[in-house]
Amino acid sequence: MTSQSDDRSYGKTAHLYDLFDRKENIEFFYHYASQADEVLDIGAGTGRIAIPLAERGLQVCCVEPPPAMRREFEKKLARRPELADRIWLISGDARSFDVHRTFPSAFLSGCFDHFLDDQERRASLLNIGRHLAPNGILVFDVFLGLMKDTPLSPAGRVGVGTRKIRRFVGGKVLPGQKKEVTLVFEVVQDGQIVERIKERGLVGITSRGNVHRALKEAGFEVSREWRDYDFKPYQEGDSLLIVEARNQSWR
Ligand SMILES: C[S@@+](CC[C@H](N)C(=O)[O-])C[C@H]1O[C@@H](n2cnc3c(N)ncnc32)[C@H](O)[C@@H]1O
Repeated sequence: MTSQSDDRSYGKTAHLYDLFDRKENIEFFYHYASQADEVLDIGAGTGRIAIPLAERGLQVCCVEPPPAMRREFEKKLARRPELADRIWLISGDARSFDVHRTFPSAFLSGCFDHFLDDQERRASLLNIGRHLAPNGILVFDVFLGLMKDTPLSPAGRVGVGTRKIRRFVGGKVLPGQKKEVTLVFEVVQDGQIVERIKERGLVGITSRGNVHRALKEAGFEVSREWRDYDFKPYQEGDSLLIVEARNQSWR
């Protein structure tokens, strides 16, 4: 098992993560998580989803590898001591974490893309299956529209006090079905760029067929597929695929 590489560390940009991830998917994941009173959040990041779920009374076990992301998460938790007994944050990788128990459901938000090849996808799904109860639900999103190079382009701007932070994103397809994603953040004050942070990361390129195959090999059965977080059904060709699958490995 290889350890997490710096390519996935968010080491320079974790403190900016929440400013730009504005995906409206908390209600979506709450819909699944609230079918029981506890849930497993893999690749939990800064707790963007886990914290609102805990605020609504759920117990959330969070797995997150890079220390930089966990530090941001912990800073937020330190300001919310009332949530301390509802959130259990561990350092771990989807492929190998072990919390010695099962959950009724698990989700990955924005994390499956970080699995770089079929071996990682399979190992992660197998390990997640080991943490799910019989017929337990796994929900995750995966981006299928990664096949092209994309030039570095503006991808959001946010005001923070007297400063503006601009984000740029670009991507380059690499051999072996991977894509190098470049993130650039520019901090602007009084019209001047006062800081520029650049970070590169790798994501895996996959297809719907491949996702189905990996799930089947790991003992999951696909039960629903969505094209967005408003529960609209997936249609062939959509670039965002959200999968709901059931753990059948106990059969
Ligand atoms: C796009 S962020 C999403 C964070 C959070 N789930 C959210 O929706 O706000 C992807 C997260 O997956 C984590 N991640 C990447 N590779 C992982 C792996 N092999 N196992 C577990 N988490 C991983 C990253 O560290 C990062 O926090």
